Amino acid sequence: MKIVSVVGARPQFVKLAPIHKAAKAAGVEHVIVHTGQHYDPMLSDVFFEDLGIGAPDVHLGVGSGTHGVQTGAMLAALDAVFEEHRPDWVLVYGDTNSTVAAALSAVKMHIPVAHLEAGLRSFNRRMPEEHNRVMTDHAADLLLAPTQVAVDHLSHEGLAERTVLVGDVMTDVLFEVRDQVGSAPSALLTELDLEAGGYYLATIHRAENTDDPERLAEIAESLGGLDRPVVLLAHPRVVAKAAAHGIELTHGTLIVHPPLAYPDLIAAALSSAGVVTDSGGLQKEAFLLRVPCTTVRTETEWVETVELGWNVLANTADEIAAGVIRPRPADTDAAPYGDGHAAARVVEVLSGGA
Ligand code: UD1
Repeated sequence: MKIVSVVGARPQFVKLAPIHKAAKAAGVEHVIVHTGQHYDPMLSDVFFEDLGIGAPDVHLGVGSGTHGVQTGAMLAALDAVFEEHRPDWVLVYGDTNSTVAAALSAVKMHIPVAHLEAGLRSFNRRMPEEHNRVMTDHAADLLLAPTQVAVDHLSHEGLAERTVLVGDVMTDVLFEVRDQVGSAPSALLTELDLEAGGYYLATIHRAENTDDPERLAEIAESLGGLDRPVVLLAHPRVVAKAAAHGIELTHGTLIVHPPLAYPDLIAAALSSAGVVTDSGGLQKEAFLLRVPCTTVRTETEWVETVELGWNVLANTADEIAAGVIRPRPADTDAAPYGDGHAAARVVEVLSGGA
């Protein structure tokens, strides 16, 4: 059995780690193709190193570009890779341009495609991620859903027969890294002279929050006016957009810091008073770590985090400020994102079992 995984952006490297480990444990041949969508070492290499993935087998080196240029470059390059490897499955992850490019390329070559993290929906047709995930789900042969809500979305779209509920592989990797990090305080505390529980951790990178200067200025303004220090782990996109729009990110309580490697991110989230983010992954990581989250979006795909009280949606400056100072949510032992063994189930399903 041979699986070719296609990844390209930071959250995909995190999801790749437990799949790679499970494939190796099951004696499955696993070829890793990196599209090159993310290329900065802190967005790419550190994940391969820290999460024990090793190096990708193939690197397409496509880099940045508009959606069409970037997706098209991946499509053009993938034919030859799939032709050479002719795997039993192409496995695609999440909702980036790398996901949709690999799904489309494989389906046209009649190679079975499985979509990991299938069935998530924001129902916001302005989001590039929403186009990517809807098109990938409808192109793929096997839909590996992380939650029951995702299964229900796929069922409503007539895709129930191709769907299997496997759980969320992010839970696998997060629990493992959380246990490795243990109770050691985050290195960020010493570096920035912060106290445990005395700061908020923020990430903002989505197009809908960064590309419109007024929107980005409003978010920066609101983060800089919160009641304790806010460490913004700044994705290159937000740094580039702020510079282009003439927006000063460092002001008031807002401290700009480069992105962190995964174990450092988990340690920094664990020590924080709360997370403010527009990242899908971090909303869920905050929930799994039981750190309150405020999500700077009008909707979320991870509705369970909101229903259980650990996440609130906030758009205006007032909503963000109210979100971070809200009382700590009620404890819960709900586990909507699985038991930390999703990757083994994925490999079993791809191997024809389960
Ligand atoms: C992409 C995904 C998004 C995901 C995010 C995770 C799409 C459409 N978007 O968004 O779903 O949540 O990754 O981080 O696939 N850049 C660099 N260095 C890099 C990569 C990007 O400087 O290594 C800068 C470039 O200016 C680039 C911009 O960031 O133009 C955007 O990068 P891109 O990969 O297009 O989208 P992301 O915003 O990273």
